[in-house]
Amino acid sequence: MKTKVFIFLSVLFFSQSLLAQLPEETEEQKVRRMQWWTESRFGMFIHWGLYALPARHEWVKNRERMTNEQYQKYFEMFNPDLFNPREWARMAKEAGMKYVVLTAKHHEGFCLWDSKYTDYKSTNTPFGRDIIKEYVEAFRAEGLKVGFYYSLIDWHHPDYTIDRNHPQRQNSDTAYARLNKGRDMNKYREYMKNQVRELLTNYGEISIIWFDFSFPGPNGKGREDWDSERLLKLTRSLQPNIIVDDRLDLRDVEGGWDFTTPEQVKVEKWPEYNGKRIPWETCQTFSGSWGYYRDEYTWKSPAQLLELLIESVSKGGNLLLNVGPTARGTFDYRAQERLKAMGEWMKYNSRSIYGCTQAPDEFKAPANTLLTYNPTTKRLYVHLLAYPLNRITIKDMADKVKYIQFLHDASEIRYSTVQGTNDLSLQLPVLKPPVEIPVMEIFLK
Ligand code: GLC
Repeated sequence: MKTKVFIFLSVLFFSQSLLAQLPEETEEQKVRRMQWWTESRFGMFIHWGLYALPARHEWVKNRERMTNEQYQKYFEMFNPDLFNPREWARMAKEAGMKYVVLTAKHHEGFCLWDSKYTDYKSTNTPFGRDIIKEYVEAFRAEGLKVGFYYSLIDWHHPDYTIDRNHPQRQNSDTAYARLNKGRDMNKYREYMKNQVRELLTNYGEISIIWFDFSFPGPNGKGREDWDSERLLKLTRSLQPNIIVDDRLDLRDVEGGWDFTTPEQVKVEKWPEYNGKRIPWETCQTFSGSWGYYRDEYTWKSPAQLLELLIESVSKGGNLLLNVGPTARGTFDYRAQERLKAMGEWMKYNSRSIYGCTQAPDEFKAPANTLLTYNPTTKRLYVHLLAYPLNRITIKDMADKVKYIQFLHDASEIRYSTVQGTNDLSLQLPVLKPPVEIPVMEIFLK
């Protein structure tokens, strides 16, 4: 009897610890797993759901404290008749983007695929189609790597407990307790695992997943609420090469995340963790909100958006730039204009982006410029944010340079050494070349 109990207990212990364990990997293996992503530098985020109909922020249900009943009209009206993911994919590709992440489910809880575990899905709306299926096929056909965003938060699921980020949030613990009676987070955790299993099993290779987001603390939610470790382990077991964001509240867990996600901010320098530089990607919007927002007029200009991209690469990071399609299923004209402008620039200048990173410290950026560097080809790229008058000086470079040209037209840029120094004086045309941000390509010795 005793030995039986012992065996039972040790099997239990063993399986529990196995369950909690994430696949081990060396630093080099991780670098290799993430290589395509690191070299891509530029991806498209897509926020699409029922919130495209009210067209006033993807948090509209929360902001206006709507109930499920009040929000239901958007489900009943959802019919994006112009949805053509091949068009989306073509626009992403022409903009120079190499990967894409679509909200399979956002905080509102609405699912863009034919999930077995809910009725709250696109196939049950007048539209009736499995959006995820069409999306993965279309973007793959254009050669982009495909990813999902999956919201941990769920403002529709009946077992998801009301918390401080919920549309029905309260201001006292007793009110929370009363409202949450009968809600069972165990069931919700099961639901998430089932859905993640569906998404990572039924749609082929998925290259990246965004879990969003944790907010531990009073009336908040964190790793215990999501069962983050098991969710992540499931993810990695179904898609061993997948790249995972850092919002599962597993910062301090080995293998608990792959990259960090500064949102709508400009980082001061390459982000670090425990004194080491870490992979990072900033996600940014065109105008402020993630979902389609008709009356938002704070759209960034093409030059600002390109600067965001170059800036990120100059500090070793990626840019995930968001589009919020309309409820007809199209990209708003302002988004189209900007993607086009970025594509025009990328067509001639992407060599300063793909495969590039922060320049070694020995190279100092002249005023109003951003540097990127390709460690394989050993070329340095100087991005001219403000076009100089005739000349620009680059410090301490005379002994390092073999040749300099404009990147967009491969026209030579002549230079001479400033007498008695190691500085280079470059001779530029008076007229700014017809490029939003001109780039000089420096071939190093
Ligand atoms: C935030 C928001 C969300 C958006 C996300 C993108 O966490 O809750 O609306 O999807 O950021 O990073």
